[in-house]
Amino acid sequence: MPYERKVIDIQEIRRQQAICAEIFDRVTADGRRPLAMVDTYGCQQNEADSEKLRGYLAEMGYSFTQDEFQADVIVVNTCAVREHAEMRVLGNVGALNHTKKNKPDQIIAVCGCMVQQEHMAQKIKMSYPVVDLVFGPHELWRFPELLQRVMTRGKRVFATEKDNGAVAEGIPQRRDGSVKAWLSIMYGCNNFCTYCVVPYVRGRERSRRPEDVVAEARELVAAGYKDITLLGQNVNSYGKDLDSGVDFADLIRMVNDIPGDFLIRFMTSHPKDATEKLFKTMAECEKCAHHIHLPVQAGSDRVLKAMNRSYSRAKYLEEVALARQYMPDLVLTTDIIVGFPGETEEDFAETLSLCEEVRFDAMFTFIYSKRVGTPAASMPDPYTRADKQRHFDQLMEVANRISGEKHREYEGRTLRVLVDGETGKPAYNLSSRTNGGRLVHLKGDPALVGQFVDVTITASNTWALYGELAEKQ
Ligand code: 5AD
Ligand code: SF4
Repeated sequence: MPYERKVIDIQEIRRQQAICAEIFDRVTADGRRPLAMVDTYGCQQNEADSEKLRGYLAEMGYSFTQDEFQADVIVVNTCAVREHAEMRVLGNVGALNHTKKNKPDQIIAVCGCMVQQEHMAQKIKMSYPVVDLVFGPHELWRFPELLQRVMTRGKRVFATEKDNGAVAEGIPQRRDGSVKAWLSIMYGCNNFCTYCVVPYVRGRERSRRPEDVVAEARELVAAGYKDITLLGQNVNSYGKDLDSGVDFADLIRMVNDIPGDFLIRFMTSHPKDATEKLFKTMAECEKCAHHIHLPVQAGSDRVLKAMNRSYSRAKYLEEVALARQYMPDLVLTTDIIVGFPGETEEDFAETLSLCEEVRFDAMFTFIYSKRVGTPAASMPDPYTRADKQRHFDQLMEVANRISGEKHREYEGRTLRVLVDGETGKPAYNLSSRTNGGRLVHLKGDPALVGQFVDVTITASNTWALYGELAEKQ
């Protein structure tokens, strides 16, 4: 247990909620219902964090809008994983000059991973005077206090101290949907992959107590949620910082024991600590989806080593074989980085061959993005952007072909899906997901949203399946 696990006292959260009540009085004093907008970039963890920001904002009396010209408070929850996301944030924050000109009292906050990097917090301080409040992921639990400071002092507030992070329970949440829910089980990352900024901005791994996770899962099931995704940067190391004796597989079993008809999903698994116990548990727990997102990142041992991934190509392939032994219907998805510093034609060929060998159901592919302060940022990188783009295109072609082929294998089969929303398209007005998380478009009564139904797959393409209700529901 190398790091001390810091817990925010529940009384502190109650104090934040008391501040929400004070803000409520202030912002509703003229009888008006104020509006807030929360704009989220990046991963599911950020989506989950935004639900907490909205939870607090709702307690402050805010309703929500997507229109930045109407909003009294705008919160931009940012991502730092790749440069592209940062550029989008900066562009969009810059454009808020217009909205603030129309509405000078508008409060603009920028939070999340991007601003936890010192150089980015500085950049906003110096070049984006339109921003009133900046806070990193470690300060989210005290957002009400920070916002109140902006409101009462009329000064810009910056809260982006370096921190290893804490666990805070009891923050109110305003969830996005009514069918699918995110449930954070742990925060931070200890892995320090050499390309990745996450451990620097999200701090060390810290797990929520199993009883807190299970209590939240129970609430979600009671509220009618049917698809619960357990979230963490590396869920496979869940519990290592606790003395509860509960590992990730045990946690799945505990959630699985909650009565009700629902699905358990999880994101993300690091291949270095996915265990046979996990695969066995997934196979045995009837509510656990047979889907693993297992980012491989590269197919060459040399690159994997330079990335500090702590597994070899052979170990990854063995793990996949073992998982498929327990779950022959397993849906396997992955992340791949193309153009890691010094990745050669030969290295890349190994990534391609690994993909052909594993046949992922879906692949998320990224061109390497240099991140300030990471070890990879100072590795020699002789290959041109054009080389990387060529590899990226080649990999996408392989990924799309394999996804298309795998999807075609579903045609004619009847399977159970969870209807999770409406598409707005008349031909296929509903969207749904298979147990393995594959998207299925179908036609049916909107009242089916939130229900499990049997569908027969009639058509497919690279991205989705198309189906018909198998019987009168
Ligand atoms: N450049 C490109 N992709 C990255 N990822 C993480 N850091 C970088 C980076 N610097 C990708 C990894 C990870 C996913 C969430 O983002 O593939 O699994
Ligand atoms: Fe980044 Fe690696 Fe941690 Fe994932 S496991 S968040 S890629 S450092």
